[in-house]
Order: sequence, then C-alpha cells, then structure tokens
Amino acid sequence: METGTEKWKRNAARIAAELIEDGMVAGIGSGTTVAEVVKAIAEIKPKSVFVPASKATERLAKRLGLRTDALEKYPMLDLTIDGADEVDPNFDLIKGGGGAHTREKIIAKASDRLVIVIDRTKLVRRLGERMPVPVEVLPFGWKFVNKELERMGGIPKLRMTQLGKPFITDNGNYIVDVRFKRILKPKELEGKINSTSGVIENGIFAGMTDMVLVGYEGGCKTIKRKGELLRFIERFES
Ligand code: 5RP
Repeated sequence: METGTEKWKRNAARIAAELIEDGMVAGIGSGTTVAEVVKAIAEIKPKSVFVPASKATERLAKRLGLRTDALEKYPMLDLTIDGADEVDPNFDLIKGGGGAHTREKIIAKASDRLVIVIDRTKLVRRLGERMPVPVEVLPFGWKFVNKELERMGGIPKLRMTQLGKPFITDNGNYIVDVRFKRILKPKELEGKINSTSGVIENGIFAGMTDMVLVGYEGGCKTIKRKGELLRFIERFES
C-alpha cells in the first residue's frame, strides 16, 4: 500500500522533472525522492545530460535510459535537483541521510541553481529539530573527529550498517551522525565542522538553495521566497 508521503514525493517530483530543458546539463542528487524525480524525467525523455551524485542514482538513471556523465567532463552545471532531510524557513538544509552529501554539495556548488524536492514532513522551524548532522570522515581519523565534535556541543555516533559494520560512503569513508541540541547559526556550524582535520564534508547546506518544491496532500507547492516557506510551515501547525 502506498503511503501519503510516497504520493507527496511523486507530486513534487513531477513538477521538478518539468524544470529540465533540452540541452541542459543537470546535477542529480540521491535518495527516494530523487528516485521519483529520475523516473518522472525518464517519462519526458529530455535531450539533456545528467551528472549523478551517487552510484545508486547513476544506476537508476542509466537503467531508465537517461544520458549520464561525470562532473569531470561537465564541471559547470545548469541546475541541480536534490532531496533533503530537513529544510528550514531560510532555505538552509540538512542532507546526507543516504550518506551522499559530499558529492551532493559539490554538484550543488557547481550549479547555477539548486532546486530541493521534498515532502512536507521535511519542513522544520530549526535545523536539527529531528535529524542529526551527517559528517563524512576519513576512517583513519574518526575517533579524533568525534572528540572535536563533542567539543562543539555535539553527540556523535558512527553510522553502522544492518550487518553491524561501519557504513562506507561511495568515497570509501565513514559517516558520523551528530546530534546538536540547537543549531542557531547553520552557516557558522557548517564551516566550523569542516575546519576539523579528518572531516571530508558535513551535511549542512547553508545559503545554497534557490527553490523548494514541497509535495503535500494538495499537490506541490513551489516556493521561491523565504517568507513563503515559513507561511507554508505555519499552515500545517494549527
Ligand atoms: C542523501 C540525501 C537525500 O537527499 C536525503 O537523505 C533525502 O532522502 P529521501 O528523499 O530518501 O528522504 O541527502 O545523501
């Protein structure tokens, strides 16, 4: 049986797919919402090239007949479409639930525009309300990095697979998920975590998003301005 959120994701994915124009080179992130976007794009079959952020997205895109290529060949992208784990009223994000945030941040920064596609359960008033911040760490240094994250007020936990082994990213590294009581200044925390030796990249994406597409029971809400997002959050709070 299909759940509400699955349908909401598809509502937003259909609108996201329409943003792809023939001739574009587009970055494409990862996760279950992005998988719906890839399926919706494959139905339209645009003459575009896609640079996937993860091996899983690359496999799906290829299987559905989309043309994929590497960032090495196309270092400047017209647009990136990606999902998120949390989106706050300032368009700041927590990503990395799937452990692909390092490559996702690279393609986001290589793009003219970043479009985030979510269902409305991902909307939060403040980052960290529900999700920890994923931090990709060089395995050699993970214990040291954990100590540093604790000094920043975080509670770090090494991400494990169901088999009880450390989760390994597409880049061959570990992920440490860090709970913070309150993230008051996302941009500052993003920079602070990344200044620790051994940290590859963290999942806070501050000041990068241009547009948010939110799937919900009524369809999809396209949000281009920050105040609009807060009003949309408030709509579901009463
Ligand atoms: C992966 C991500 C995903 O975009 C994020 O976890 C959302 O995934 P989903 O759409 O499956 O909820 O950042 O690194």
